[in-house]
This record gives sequence, structure tokens and C-alpha cells, in this order.
Amino acid sequence: MKSWQDLGFEIEITKDESPTLRLLQSLDPAKAFGESMHHSGGASIETTHLYGNVAAEILTKIQKPHFMVVGLGLGYIEMNIAREAIKRGCSVGLITSYEAIPELSEFFIQWLHDRAGNLSPEVSSVYDQALMHVLKGTEISENQIKSFLKDHFQTVADIHGPLHADVQFVSRYHGFFYDAYSSKTHPHLWEEDFLNRLLRESAEPYCLLTTYAVKGTLKRALKNNGFSITEREGFFTKRGSTLGVRASGVS
Ligand SMILES: C[S@@+](CC[C@H](N)C(=O)[O-])C[C@H]1O[C@@H](n2cnc3c(N)ncnc32)[C@H](O)[C@@H]1O
Repeated sequence: MKSWQDLGFEIEITKDESPTLRLLQSLDPAKAFGESMHHSGGASIETTHLYGNVAAEILTKIQKPHFMVVGLGLGYIEMNIAREAIKRGCSVGLITSYEAIPELSEFFIQWLHDRAGNLSPEVSSVYDQALMHVLKGTEISENQIKSFLKDHFQTVADIHGPLHADVQFVSRYHGFFYDAYSSKTHPHLWEEDFLNRLLRESAEPYCLLTTYAVKGTLKRALKNNGFSITEREGFFTKRGSTLGVRASGVS
């Protein structure tokens, strides 16, 4: 049974007490510390601020929306989508999640389907804690979230591998949750040509894109594809974050 350490991560408890994972070694050789999946100010609060609230907005406008998540990580975004849909009694048409590290997809599926015997206790406990924080302040149960997500993620084959530069998109989406590292290992994710293709080939006319990042290439691609850009406050010490909105035909 693999541990977080075997995958090159350590557990970090953030300021809202929700857990995240930090890389033991940085992707950027110039940096002394490994990147964390979330801001130390609060993994759960940050996810709601950047992604959960946007899922809620889309769910109020579109029936059975399609969501793309780039970077499954611990699955906080998927849990947020489920929470917002359950709150409103809505269905979600499709969640297409991409994840570069196969074990993260495998762990998530094992945990979701309650196969704790296939996971080390420290691994399942991180998912349990994450879900507990996602559900804070709601009446929704852990089983409701799991059952909702199980319909979308039955096996590990339902989670896509890395989002490659030459990806063939499998659908069109109303929401993009763009949460991969701004890493040196997958630079195409933030290149203007790739972002233009992503939006041209896989965005629905009504579409929102949200990300923790602020990048000129992304802003230009959003503008090129008819999105307006809302400057949002960054989370805690972050300098900003990007929300692109193309509200064609929907008020
Ligand atoms: C910031 S973390 C995501 C946190 C996650 N959204 C959550 O809610 O827990 C970034 C994730 O993106 C993944 N990643 C990096 N490059 C990727 C790519 N090209 N395609 C898909 N996932 C990628 C990493 O392995 C990592 O799990």
C-alpha cells in the first residue's frame, strides 16, 4: 500500500484545518520548498472561493452542466461541485477530470468506493478530512456526496490522465476549473495557443473559466474567445485570480 511519501508528498494542515499535500521536492529547481496543492490560508475555503462559488453560479443558469477540472489532486473541486448540486437539487451532466499522477486517481476511486482496505489509513484519512471540511455548515452527509460522485466516477478509467497539448476534447463545457500547477513540467497548459484551442473547441456558448492563476496568456485567450474578465481578489496573500465569463444568451 502506497503512502503519500511514496508519491513524493507530505500532508500539510492549512489554516482552516483542512488538509492539503505539499511536494517534498519543488518542480522548480530554483525553489527550496515544494509546491503545495492549496494556499496555506485554507484548502477548503480557497476551493469554495475559487471553484465552488462558480459551480453554484453555473448550476443556477444551466441544467445538467458540463464541468472540466484540470488537476484532480485531492478532489476538493469535485466535492464542491457535488455539494453545490445537492444543495440545489440539481444534476450535473458531466464532470471530466484530468490528473497527471495516476496514483492520485487510483486513491480517489478507492476512497470514493469505500475500499479503505486498499488504502493506507493516512491516505484515506486525508480524503475523509477534506470531505468533512467541504461539508461544514451544510446538512449534507458524506454519503450523499460520495453517492453523487460515484455516478460520475465509477472506475479509475473515468478520470483522465494528464491534459496533453494534443488532447482531443471529449465534450463541450459550461465550466472550466483550471487548477494544475503552473509547472515547468506541463508548460503548454498556460500557452496562449493551447488555451485558445481549449476554449474554441470545448467551451459551450455560455461558459465560465475560473483559476487561481493570473496570466497574460490566459487573459488574451479568454478575450480572443469572447469572454470578459472579472478581476477577483486573490486568496489570502495571493495577488489575484482570474474569472472569465461568456454569458451568451443567458441572463
Ligand atoms: C493544485 S493541485 C490540484 C488540487 C485539486 N484541484 C484539489 O482540489 O485538491 C494540481 C494538480 O494538477 C495535477 N496536474 C499537473 N499537471 C497536469 C496536467 N497536465 N493534467 C492534469 N493534471 C495535472 C497535479 O498532479 C496536481 O494533482
